[in-house]
Amino acid sequence: MGRLICLSNRIPTGANPSGGLVVAVGDALEQAGGIWIGTSGEVCETPSDELREIEGGPFRRLCFDLTEEEQQNYYAGYANSVLWPLLHGRTDLVDIHQEYLATYKKVNRRLARMLAPHLEPDDRIWVHDFHLLALAHELRVLGVGNRIGFFLHTPFPEPLSMHVLPNGREVCQWLSGFDLIGLQAERDVRACLASMVEIGEAIDLGSGYLHLGQRQCRVAAFPIAIDAREFMDLAEEQFQALPAGIVKDRRRLMIGVDRLDYSKGVPQRFRAFGEFLSRHEEWHRHVSLLQISPPTREGVQAYDAIREETEHLSGRINGTFADIQWAPIRFINRAVPREVLAGLYRAAHVGLVTPLMDGMNLVAKEFIAAQNPEDPGVLILSQFAGAAEQMTAALIVNPHDTEQMASTILTALAMSHSERRERYEALLEVLLTQDVHWWSKNFLDALG
Ligand code: G6P
Repeated sequence: MGRLICLSNRIPTGANPSGGLVVAVGDALEQAGGIWIGTSGEVCETPSDELREIEGGPFRRLCFDLTEEEQQNYYAGYANSVLWPLLHGRTDLVDIHQEYLATYKKVNRRLARMLAPHLEPDDRIWVHDFHLLALAHELRVLGVGNRIGFFLHTPFPEPLSMHVLPNGREVCQWLSGFDLIGLQAERDVRACLASMVEIGEAIDLGSGYLHLGQRQCRVAAFPIAIDAREFMDLAEEQFQALPAGIVKDRRRLMIGVDRLDYSKGVPQRFRAFGEFLSRHEEWHRHVSLLQISPPTREGVQAYDAIREETEHLSGRINGTFADIQWAPIRFINRAVPREVLAGLYRAAHVGLVTPLMDGMNLVAKEFIAAQNPEDPGVLILSQFAGAAEQMTAALIVNPHDTEQMASTILTALAMSHSERRERYEALLEVLLTQDVHWWSKNFLDALG
């Protein structure tokens, strides 16, 4: 079988907080072997038109630099100020500029030209996420006939949202350059088929197959996952390494871990916690919320705004309820290493994963895998995370409904040992059978 070649905007370079993509693709490549290609994270004036090798690591990595203009218009612009809000149901934040689109196409074309000479006829190409929607199309223009799969780590928008994109039809044509379009959840498959037909004028051939232009492609769900066994061991080991103060603290610990992104619903979570505290004085001093939110995509306006809003809210809730020995919210605006998070998840009694919209959300999966099987914590999960389709034994909430979230916090904190175990076992079963190996194998088998 040919080599596996993965491409994504971000690849692990050891810098920045990574997010779900880097975690899962890293796990998949460690298993299957292959090459991972993406941006270096460095900006330079005249980037080379050759891919550059990054030394070390468990698999080969090749990278390229962006110019300042590309960083602004392709990454901060089209990817994160047009596509990201569109994909997450925030059409109000979509900020359309022609130069964003022009540079986005230019970067996709440049990458296609750098990649093509490296390809062997039986290589399988696996493109990841919304930064590289046009890559297969650009490779096809160069005459590349290899199987090319695409996996979208975010939700797929409904046709009504897609109409916001002036070039929606072109985006559908780009997508038809892929042989397989993998999505996180069944809801995304339905939205993608509907959008491709309505906006792209594709013909729905049934069973997930579409015909568009000269091409046929398949759309299917492949819910992304983690290496659950490895994470269980990591959490057990890292729990021992936590500072004694955290382990011995008799207060109930609730934890939230999200990049500080407006799609993650952190303000709604804080408001629900505030509502819970105002209703339940008996819980004052007995519970605290640890929210870890590393900054992300700084300089994009909507991200600066969400930071201000969360800082303001946590300050207000602490100001209202704290006393000299207790602050209800600890808000950490820095990245914490994944292994430390594993230990913290195990120490926590409740995991709050309450995005307003999310492709999958691997924190939900990591939180469950990290629990002590004898005395597991409880997961509160948004109905809008892709994970909710699989993790039905969690406490499912609507993050917009503050009162429901507040009463679910009480349910979680007061849940009996037997119910906690029952829910945990059902959730763990899903994680162990549908793990990251299952995800990448299913996708690659389907790509054929
Ligand atoms: C999400 C996206 C990834 C992205 C990650 C971190 O998980 O699906 O493509 O890499 O966020 O965002 P960043 O912009 O820092 O790469």
